[in-house]
Amino acid sequence: MKVDGRHYRSIWLEPDGRSVGAIDQRRLPHEFVVAKLTSCEEAADAIRTMLVRGAPLIGATAAFGVALAMREDASDAGLDRAYRTLVVARPTAINLKWALEEMRTTLAPLSRFERTEAAYARADEIAEQDVAINQGIARNGLPLIEGVAARRKPGEPVNVLTHCNAGWLATVDWGTATAPIYLAHERGIKVHVWVDETRPRNQGASLTAWELGHHGVPHTIIPDNTGGHLMQHGMVDLAIVGTDRVAANGDVCNKIGTYLKALAAHDNDVPFYVALPSPTIDFAIDDGIRDIPIEQRAAAEVTDMTGRTADGRLETVRIVPEGSPVANYGFDVTPARLVTGLITERGVLKPDRASLAAAFPERIAAE
Ligand code: MRU
Repeated sequence: MKVDGRHYRSIWLEPDGRSVGAIDQRRLPHEFVVAKLTSCEEAADAIRTMLVRGAPLIGATAAFGVALAMREDASDAGLDRAYRTLVVARPTAINLKWALEEMRTTLAPLSRFERTEAAYARADEIAEQDVAINQGIARNGLPLIEGVAARRKPGEPVNVLTHCNAGWLATVDWGTATAPIYLAHERGIKVHVWVDETRPRNQGASLTAWELGHHGVPHTIIPDNTGGHLMQHGMVDLAIVGTDRVAANGDVCNKIGTYLKALAAHDNDVPFYVALPSPTIDFAIDDGIRDIPIEQRAAAEVTDMTGRTADGRLETVRIVPEGSPVANYGFDVTPARLVTGLITERGVLKPDRASLAAAFPERIAAE
């Protein structure tokens, strides 16, 4: 997608053919800074500290992390160490484990002399595959927006609500939830996006708003608690969110607060769609609410806020009383019964076991 007219991806192989470039998402929207990752440890650190984030991008970064590791030690022990270092970087997004399994399957049968080149090639394929998958999601999700647009008076936009950042920054390009939105925008359909700020890290306000703005897509940032009110007043045509892991039964894990939006959508007959690339499906988990691990993060994300002061400095301030305990669950699980449909690269699916298994039989066979 575009930043001030120039096309960017969130991650790329640098011209030196070794190191990996990535947009430092901790600095947005205030500063556009590119980071250079040169080792497996730096890749793991980038995931852990959320320099990169978003399930598909976490997966792609881990794949490049293995390639960086192979430069230093391409032995079986080196491959094993890279896997173990990266797999624990964040717990909820299953794309991390998926990408590492893909890398291990490709590299394990090879000799140590072949592994480095093969690792870069497979990491690059995983990144390209993510872009292609998201373009599929864009094509399959577009009719949902077109359907609303067809019932609109000329000039009236289709209002889509999204939560967190499931945009191009969270993937390699296009995003998942944003992919149909970008395609609709490209096709000249008037779309307007309600962007949940997404406390505590504000990925909506900081990242989704930034990328939509730079690509020229009309949007409005709303405090997290606003969605229900907008839905009651007919101001949301459909919700589209991303996900970090979908269980085999269709339960959807995504950024904390997604469940509340799904409840409000259900109560107001607003279609609630989840956009996902197939690597986000975890067929090993039968019940998302019971079994998906939920990341708990540092209290400082809740107690403190960082922003730009009037004189241009970045400053962090405390916004809660000293001594009050804090809980910071990163994700929640929306039960399948609240999900209207899963927008995948193979079509819009019902959120249930049979539909997921029928659409991705090769994944079932691999389990
Ligand atoms: O904690 P984050 O910023 O990594 O959480 C991101 C999300 O919850 C996204 O909605 C999800 O990863 C899907 S990204 C296409």
